[in-house]
Amino acid sequence: MQAAFIAEQAAQCGYCSNGMVMSAVALLRAVPHPSEALVRRALAGNLCRCGTYPRVLRAVLRAAGSGR
Ligand code: FES
Repeated sequence: MQAAFIAEQAAQCGYCSNGMVMSAVALLRAVPHPSEALVRRALAGNLCRCGTYPRVLRAVLRAAGSGR
């Protein structure tokens, strides 16, 4: 997951990154190949003041092997 975040440049200031990564890892443990909608729902509790949501979404899908 960390490699996917780096590849997609999904962290800016990094304030939200720990929560995003933890939520994403928990999701992939429960659902190895989630849909985009499911990823959005799983990460909804993490607020990013830098607006990295599209890059975080791509990173999680990349880590799941279903990246676009
Ligand atoms: S990267 Fe700055 S709050 Fe998310």
